Amino acid sequence: MFTRKDFPEDFLFGTATSSYQIEGHGFGGAGRTHWDDFADTPGNVVRAEHGARACDHYHLYEQDLDLVAAAGFDAYRFSTSWARVLPEGRGPVNTEGLDFYDRLTDAMLERGLKPCATLYHWELPSALADLGGWRNRDVASWFADFTEIIMDRIGDRMWSVAPINEPWCVAWLSHFYGAHAPGLRDIRAAARAMHHVLLAHGRAIEVMRAQGLGNLGGVFNLEWASPASDEPEARHAAAIYDGIYNRWFLGGVFKGAYPQIVLDGLEPHLPQNWQDDFPTITQKLDWCGLNYYTRKRIAPAPGPWPALCEVEGPLPKTAMCWEIYPQGLQDFLIRTAAEYTGDLPLYVTENGMAAPDQMRGGDVDDPDRLSYLAAHLEALRAAQARGVPVKGYFVWSLLDNYEWSFGYEKRFGLVHVDFDTLARTPKASYHAMALALRKDQNR
Ligand code: NOJ
Repeated sequence: MFTRKDFPEDFLFGTATSSYQIEGHGFGGAGRTHWDDFADTPGNVVRAEHGARACDHYHLYEQDLDLVAAAGFDAYRFSTSWARVLPEGRGPVNTEGLDFYDRLTDAMLERGLKPCATLYHWELPSALADLGGWRNRDVASWFADFTEIIMDRIGDRMWSVAPINEPWCVAWLSHFYGAHAPGLRDIRAAARAMHHVLLAHGRAIEVMRAQGLGNLGGVFNLEWASPASDEPEARHAAAIYDGIYNRWFLGGVFKGAYPQIVLDGLEPHLPQNWQDDFPTITQKLDWCGLNYYTRKRIAPAPGPWPALCEVEGPLPKTAMCWEIYPQGLQDFLIRTAAEYTGDLPLYVTENGMAAPDQMRGGDVDDPDRLSYLAAHLEALRAAQARGVPVKGYFVWSLLDNYEWSFGYEKRFGLVHVDFDTLARTPKASYHAMALALRKDQNR
């Protein structure tokens, strides 16, 4: 088991959540989002569950932040809901929404927690989805305006800010696979979203720099792509997967270039003059966040580009059926620093696992989660030992919450949530983290 003293003195431990997944979007005057629409469409979400109540963090945030602080975490990564602040996505501001994030921020600071904001974690206001959402280039300007409004209110007290959580999910998962809102399966829509999400990122960074804010970064999800065989076709398919998932976004933001292996398929579908946006997209950042969970084994498949498919792998799996592959975290940290970010501080902004957690006698024993976290922290340390500047690690997630198209079925929390009573029960992994993070004994 790890303890704080295994890590550099300034290493940050945090835990992460997101607005739609925990707050309860039905409260406080928030506007409708494309996740509400997606969940209302039969077949999209397990039991058609949505985030109207979720963990009711909107009302219970003080007790939740008490849990973050009591575990000894240094930082709390949260997100702000665009539709809570601007119910129509633009125009009139819902002051109750701004007041909520103001209270939340102060409550973090009162508990000695560093507020780490993500401005967009997937709940696009429906009114903007109706205008084409991420397919519409104007989304970058709408997002820049939202950024200005929310940061005018809470930016002065943020420890760090990232505009957009996991651009691959915003773009590809949602517009090519159709697995997330808005549920499109359309390569042209996906290509537009792949570009506009980075343009929006860049515009938001520009806005925040103009506001005088610092410690700005980006949060990218990475998935290691292993060829399912040694055949050149499998290696090529895995390279395309790696390009779409990982290298497109890091390449766009840190190199001002998209990988050719992805342009081979997407270029005909990109908006005109897309290259002209790179000066905006490549805004200088202060840190880079990586969310890491698993790897995928990739094989070639018949059909049009990208002509690949996922193949089940042999490793032990989490409740999401994701293989547990800590080596991928180590390799990604090393590769990201070597090829994209150099000396820039890296943070693991999400890592964790879903498990079939059950309450027994008032306790939840989740040894697999603890082993998962320990193995990934070990991988992180191996990258540090190779000189990679990894400065912090955030567990996904504080609470069991709304796991998107899986509804409330998949539990990622360090803290169990009873979705009938809303009772919070720290799991064994929470107690173990609290012991590991204690400052008096461990440093
Ligand atoms: C990444 C996302 O940021 C988060 O919303 C999600 O719940 C976790 N991964 C687990 O799938």
